[in-house]
Amino acid sequence: RDKVTIQTLQKLREAKVPISMLTAYDYPTAVSCSSNSSIDITLVGDSLAQVCLGYKSTTQLTLDEMIHHASAVARGTTHPLLVADMPFGSYHGSMDDAVNNAVRMVRESHIEAVKLEGGEEIADLVRRLTSIGIPVMAHVGLLPQRHVSLSGYKVQGKNVASAKALVKAAKVLEEAGAFSAVVEAVPKELGRYITENVTMPTIGIGAGPWTSGQVLVWDDAMGTWLGHKAKFVRRFANLQTAREMGVQGYANAVKDGSFPDPQRESYTMDEAEWTRFL
Ligand code: KIV
Ligand code: NA
Repeated sequence: RDKVTIQTLQKLREAKVPISMLTAYDYPTAVSCSSNSSIDITLVGDSLAQVCLGYKSTTQLTLDEMIHHASAVARGTTHPLLVADMPFGSYHGSMDDAVNNAVRMVRESHIEAVKLEGGEEIADLVRRLTSIGIPVMAHVGLLPQRHVSLSGYKVQGKNVASAKALVKAAKVLEEAGAFSAVVEAVPKELGRYITENVTMPTIGIGAGPWTSGQVLVWDDAMGTWLGHKAKFVRRFANLQTAREMGVQGYANAVKDGSFPDPQRESYTMDEAEWTRFL
């Protein structure tokens, strides 16, 4: 498949063909996203913190850790547009620091666009990054990097005031140059309203079926672990069960001595050579 560009996404939106985005955190998951021509965008989400690195919150992820993983994802990425989250703190200081950090992500990881959580307060940064050629995907609604201020991971935009604020944020960010926006955990009516009131493609997660596209975290979609499942998650595979069976099978075979098989899974010395050796 041809490389997916910002223009491709705009065309999909116009044709009302849902855009598919999936996260990846390392080379093999990136290859899986790339080997399916129906995946449009690969996202190195900062969910990396929890699902791969065992941190409790995305706020613990460092820029260096993101760059390390995004680089591996880039090595496995072909046609999907490659987007990565700027980690918490890497775009909250001065404008210059934020620009330098975004430049590092592009230059060291070879990602194509950055994703930033926030509303009007980050519009100037979105404008600046866009102006120097770093495309920005906005992220509105539930902002996991602010889960403490938000008193947890809760649905956003449920009352008139917060719904209006979210629509305003999406419009301001689009005006500032964002090429697309993730809309996380909002009522489906609001997901549709935002989508109909901006021209950039919206990518929903827990935002209902009427956004321009959908995104899920790899581990949620593949069932690589079977812990808490948010309402908006659908498990499309159950890799955790397969993995447990694999570990059990291996351990059993080692313990009962059936692995390795002396014929099929072992090397053999030439007989004459072995006789001389002895
Ligand atoms: O970090 C992440 O994986 C994300 C997506 C769920 C949108 O931001
Ligand atoms: Na994220």
